Amino acid sequence: MPYRTPARLGRPLSVIGQGCWQIGADWGDVTDDSAQAVLGAALDAGVTFFDTADVYGDGRSERLVGQMRNAALDGGAAADLPFVATKASRRADPFAPETFTEENLRTWVERSRKNLGMDTLDLVQLHCPPPAIYRDDRVFDVLDALAGEKKIAAWGVSVETCEEALISLEREHLASIQIILNPFRLKPLDEVVPLAREKGVAIIARVPLASGLLTGKFSPSSSFAANDHRSFNRHGEAFDQGETFSGVDYETGLAAVARLEQALGGAMPLAEASLRWILAQSGVTAAIPGASSGEQARRNAAAGSAPTPAQAGIVGRFDAAVRETYEELLRESIHPRW
Ligand SMILES: NC(=O)c1ccc[n+]([C@@H]2O[C@H](COP(=O)([O-])OP(=O)(O)OC[C@H]3O[C@@H](n4cnc5c(N)ncnc54)[C@H](OP(=O)(O)O)[C@@H]3O)[C@@H](O)[C@H]2O)c1
Repeated sequence: MPYRTPARLGRPLSVIGQGCWQIGADWGDVTDDSAQAVLGAALDAGVTFFDTADVYGDGRSERLVGQMRNAALDGGAAADLPFVATKASRRADPFAPETFTEENLRTWVERSRKNLGMDTLDLVQLHCPPPAIYRDDRVFDVLDALAGEKKIAAWGVSVETCEEALISLEREHLASIQIILNPFRLKPLDEVVPLAREKGVAIIARVPLASGLLTGKFSPSSSFAANDHRSFNRHGEAFDQGETFSGVDYETGLAAVARLEQALGGAMPLAEASLRWILAQSGVTAAIPGASSGEQARRNAAAGSAPTPAQAGIVGRFDAAVRETYEELLRESIHPRW
């Protein structure tokens, strides 16, 4: 597993991180056993970067990640202790800028420290706050103060749009940007990723498999549990539509997948090609696929290995298909919105 160390973070992240939304809620029922299987498989495969949030299962995901981290610590893994990124700011009304008070921010961070069992949180990301917050110095002053008090080591933002990422990049102490970047989401490559690279800010590519669409396993008749956001948020009913299938209309997504599969011609599984393609973009620090089983976590981690020349060739040809498919099927609905 290769590692990348963005200057502003100053800590190495495995290029495949483990997305931990699934082990909280919103993806159908996930038992503690299967959640532990995902975390264990990721750790065993060399993943040292785990992305969670205080609201995933109302703290369940953080607690499970904390247990895993503390078990690794007890096992003597001090040097390569897992790096945990969490998120704050959606515990009160996430659409109301007035909830971003110092008191609330401090309460949320305290709760995450407790859930994770960490004195100093490795990275706290604002969790897709309302647009006005990106220009609110008060909020970032609190994050700087928390860093000064060593309650957090670094802070970043998880954004919905490229515009929010570009505004955030004006802040001197911003360590990371988490953004949707995958073969259905190319806009971050225009300006956000190059500027972040120049400034040494980490780029964390989330929803790298477009909620599973980019594995090629879905069909028009696939169905999802009622408590899976792929059922209840297809049109942005509960949160930003972009978080479900990357905001791509399901049928259009299947058509795009068929093109990408055809371009690969069986040379590489689509999920692996998608992850390798993301990691091949200069300036990307890590991709953080979620997983519903240990086997998925293992396969995703394997896609982080340094590419052989043959694999690099396949990804190079895949890139041409990705760009063509984006232009013809996706740009019009995706580019202006996110
Ligand atoms: N606002 C935010 O900050 C925000 C929003 C979204 C996500 N995130 C973070 O980003 C992470 C990743 O995004 P995501 O989980 O939404 O989407 P994703 O990684 O694109 O998709 C994950 C889903 O795809 C399926 N999958 C994954 N690997 C697979 C494989 N190898 N083979 C077959 N199926 C596979 C699994 O679902 P099934 O097996 O159930 O089909 C899995 O739950 C999250 O876990 C979270 O940490 C953050």
